[in-house]
Amino acid sequence: MTELEYGVLKGVGGSTINRLLKAGFTTVEAVAATPARELAEKAGLGAETAEKVALLALMHVDPGFVPAMEVLQRRRMMMRCTTGSKELDRILAGGVETGSITEFIGEYGSGKTQICLTLSVMAQLPPEQGGLGGGVAVIDAEGTFLPERIVQIAAARGMDPKEVLSNIFIAKCYNSDHLSILIDNLPGIIEEKNVKLVVIDSIISHFRGEYLGRENLSERQQKLGNCLHRLMRLAETMNVAVVVTNQVQASPTVVYGDPNRPTGGNVLAHACTHRVYLRKGRKNTRIAKIIDSPSLPEREARFIITEKGIEDVEEAGD
Ligand code: GTP
Ligand code: MG
Repeated sequence: MTELEYGVLKGVGGSTINRLLKAGFTTVEAVAATPARELAEKAGLGAETAEKVALLALMHVDPGFVPAMEVLQRRRMMMRCTTGSKELDRILAGGVETGSITEFIGEYGSGKTQICLTLSVMAQLPPEQGGLGGGVAVIDAEGTFLPERIVQIAAARGMDPKEVLSNIFIAKCYNSDHLSILIDNLPGIIEEKNVKLVVIDSIISHFRGEYLGRENLSERQQKLGNCLHRLMRLAETMNVAVVVTNQVQASPTVVYGDPNRPTGGNVLAHACTHRVYLRKGRKNTRIAKIIDSPSLPEREARFIITEKGIEDVEEAGD
């Protein structure tokens, strides 16, 4: 992270820098993660100045073409957060990674929210214990992210529930425009509270509810794509793990096998780095499968939902 101060962005005057600082942009990365239009609105900049600032900030964080060795070294700075289940961690090559978007897809009750809740607790563990050593920002679009459950999971894992709660910041999200505003507010809270994990549960429900009918599909997809694009930029520039949940819809053309397909179409499929499909198993067990990832093979894992959130079936003594 580079602190925003006069002289860091060559050619940007002191008064512009002051306006940005006043609006809460304290690092160059935060400026780079924000579209010029937003910078103009929030910091009260003219359109041209905002464009220039946005471009310079992007050039600062984006060094252009770099040797592949450097890309490899940068990827080594990436951290992974344990999900609470070693099996699920195994198919994710160690857990949910920073710098990427990981998507959990599944029908109602498949465990999406329980995974998010458990991750929000685990992310606070120090890296040597499998966590990210940081806070968590949650965008709750379904009103199911219950603090009581966080308390239960933390206590069952021997962590101090009060401390765990104090590092999780939850924003209720009322509609898709609100989602967009909340995403804009993420860089601020990430910096201020040392957030390492961003959870959006779910990314799709408001869009599905608001844009009904084929004629509205392209506008919906455009807005969804815009949100995801900003999330990806945030994950990369601020090195945070972004986890989103997605629902399924039954495909009428499937005659045998699982008729459920992820919602959100190609926009969501392409925006998320890793996709994990969840389905229900026996009792409280769930089966997770990697369905689309540039680096992970298509493997399956079994886990169970307990007082610890999610954990391995064997550990729960099943
Ligand atoms: P939707 O949001 O409805 O699409 O579903 P989801 O995929 O988010 O499901 P969720 O993660 O909420 O999983 C719900 C399931 O978790 C329930 O069917 C319960 O089996 C289990 N569950 C929820 N809370 C608890 C709990 O406190 N203890 C235990 N042991 N299981 C729980
Ligand atoms: Mg849920």
